[in-house]
Amino acid sequence: MERAGRLPYNVVMGRRALRKVNPKLDLSRHLMTQDELPQPWDAVELFGRRAPLEIEVGTGKGLFMAGAGRARRDRDFLGIEVAGRYARFAAARLVVGELDNARIVHGDALRIFGQLLPDASIAAVHVYFPDPWWKKRHHKRRVMNERFVKDVERVLPIEGRLHFWTDVGEYFQLSLDLIARCTSLVGPLEVAERSAEHDLDYRTHFERRVRLSGGPVFRAEFRKAAR
Ligand SMILES: C[S@@+](CC[C@H](N)C(=O)[O-])C[C@H]1O[C@@H](n2cnc3c(N)ncnc32)[C@H](O)[C@@H]1O
Repeated sequence: MERAGRLPYNVVMGRRALRKVNPKLDLSRHLMTQDELPQPWDAVELFGRRAPLEIEVGTGKGLFMAGAGRARRDRDFLGIEVAGRYARFAAARLVVGELDNARIVHGDALRIFGQLLPDASIAAVHVYFPDPWWKKRHHKRRVMNERFVKDVERVLPIEGRLHFWTDVGEYFQLSLDLIARCTSLVGPLEVAERSAEHDLDYRTHFERRVRLSGGPVFRAEFRKAAR
């Protein structure tokens, strides 16, 4: 495991303090709690239209959500973030970017996947740099667990995608093994590294931090195939 040599960037540095969210911003359209999600699930009620929906698990500061929402106006994006102040921060980023096709849920992605999302309802699932939970006895807290990867397979339609990136080699390999053992998802498909054209030209804030510190990023994509 990497800790024997170079300590991963997120262990060495921790997380920097968040900038304050402008209290004048109206977050009401872009931020909700998981109890405010439509039950039973109804993406049209959530976004006011029918479009392919992608979900990011653990949005952090929301760089992926803002970039993806801007790049694909024909799709909707739902970010799930369990830490309230990060959920607020990410929602504020979407408001400032005037992105009507992206929203943040303050809640637990594992619960939302397990209890709310119907089969074949989500076009793509994105999991970027999930918390590593280094100690072996804490591995059960990891997002990439058996129940979750089975739920991901269930909620994807045929040709739906799972994107999983991390800087933790041991977590990456265990997750790939888990996906191979517990699902029929096809992959890992190769994902090439892109060079950044400006300071925020990264998939997420954690990718930026790891790449600027010279650390490795492990990337995988999986596809749901017809049986
Ligand atoms: C290491 S950070 C990475 C953030 C972002 N994906 C990035 O790459 O910059 C992991 C994030 O996942 C969130 N998280 C952890 N468990 C979660 C869960 N069960 N549901 C939703 N978010 C979760 C944490 O609060 C944290 O913000």
